[in-house]
Amino acid sequence: MKAVILVGGQGTRLRPLTLTTPKPMVPLANKPFVSYVLERLRDHGISEVVFSMGYLPDGIKSYFGDGSDFGLKVTYVTEDRPLGTAGAVKNVEEYVRDGDFLVLNGDILTDLDLRSLIDYHNSKDAVGTIALTPVEDPTAYGLVRTGEDGAVLGFLEKPSWDQINTNLINAGTYVLKSEVFDLIPPGREYSFERGVFPQLVGKGLYGYRSDSYWMDIGTPEKYLQAHYDILEKNVETSVSDCLDQDFVCMQGEVHLEAGAKLVPPVIIGEGCVIKAGARVGRMAIIGAGCTIESGSVVEESILQEGCTLEENVVVRHSIIARGASVGKGTIVAGGAIIGEGARVEGDNILTNHVRIYPGTVIREGSIKF
Ligand code: GDD
Ligand code: MG
Repeated sequence: MKAVILVGGQGTRLRPLTLTTPKPMVPLANKPFVSYVLERLRDHGISEVVFSMGYLPDGIKSYFGDGSDFGLKVTYVTEDRPLGTAGAVKNVEEYVRDGDFLVLNGDILTDLDLRSLIDYHNSKDAVGTIALTPVEDPTAYGLVRTGEDGAVLGFLEKPSWDQINTNLINAGTYVLKSEVFDLIPPGREYSFERGVFPQLVGKGLYGYRSDSYWMDIGTPEKYLQAHYDILEKNVETSVSDCLDQDFVCMQGEVHLEAGAKLVPPVIIGEGCVIKAGARVGRMAIIGAGCTIESGSVVEESILQEGCTLEENVVVRHSIIARGASVGKGTIVAGGAIIGEGARVEGDNILTNHVRIYPGTVIREGSIKF
């Protein structure tokens, strides 16, 4: 079976991270996010993958190449304008039309058993099968109501609270028969969620409920939570093995000075330097080649690769993008995001979900709330 991965979205809710890096390439525990999707496909016996791309396609292509490093054959198709989720799949029809195929949203971290989903689809002889997952707040998703036999009785994208009659939502993974292509108009914007699925209700569309781990990483809070879940091994990923019994994972040679403290769970990238009197953890992911000076604390946070924290910096529940640096005594907390290559000089307090644009310089002592 072949798979299409949808990665054409702009990832607006993850800005400024996605201003310089497309959402599928934003690192999760120091690896491009979508590499977890590829690993899962390979582990379930899928051998051919088509990336349906739009926004910032080049980084994806150059990283995954022909896919052989992942044991997959990878093909790339770039839209010249966004075609929507179904339009994007119609656009790659020639690569997958020779049988049933998988479609995956590219921003989901899950350990869903794809084999069971495919077996269920076959047992129902379904035209399409949607993986379903329970969530507390369905309003950000596609609400899917099914009958006892699993047949979909209703599909409603982004429902309002008064429309909610189940906690099951579209988990962003589908198995489809090729006849679904006949329902998608070519060359224009069209959506599975608002077009194809509502049309297929009562006509062979099934839902497959899974209680596997599931997370759409598309917002900063969810992106942080996905890291915490990897650190606590709430989700089975290729990183789980590296996190030893002590829940410390060193991804290569690390220079840890005597007197530097690691509080698990933590993941430390290759080539990091952590000075005496610094504390990293609990819940910290540090990208390759970061320097953390004495007296600094990193908790419940992500530093992407090549970041520098000078002395006595506090980073708490925040994200610092690649190559950014923070000066002495600055506090970064409360869901703040510092964009790629930005420089926050000393003696600032950045909190309250503030987002700093890539490359910006914040002068010493200029922000204090
Ligand atoms: N190629 C291409 N072209 N890809 C696209 C396009 C497009 O025009 N628009 C969106 N995508 C990709 C995104 O990159 C993402 O991987 C996926 O399609 C879903 O888009 P999102 O923008 O992340 O949608 P959402 O999270 O609001 O909702 C979708 O996912 C939910 C599960 O997380 C819907 O499928 C919901 O029904 C679902 O519950
Ligand atoms: Mg999404």
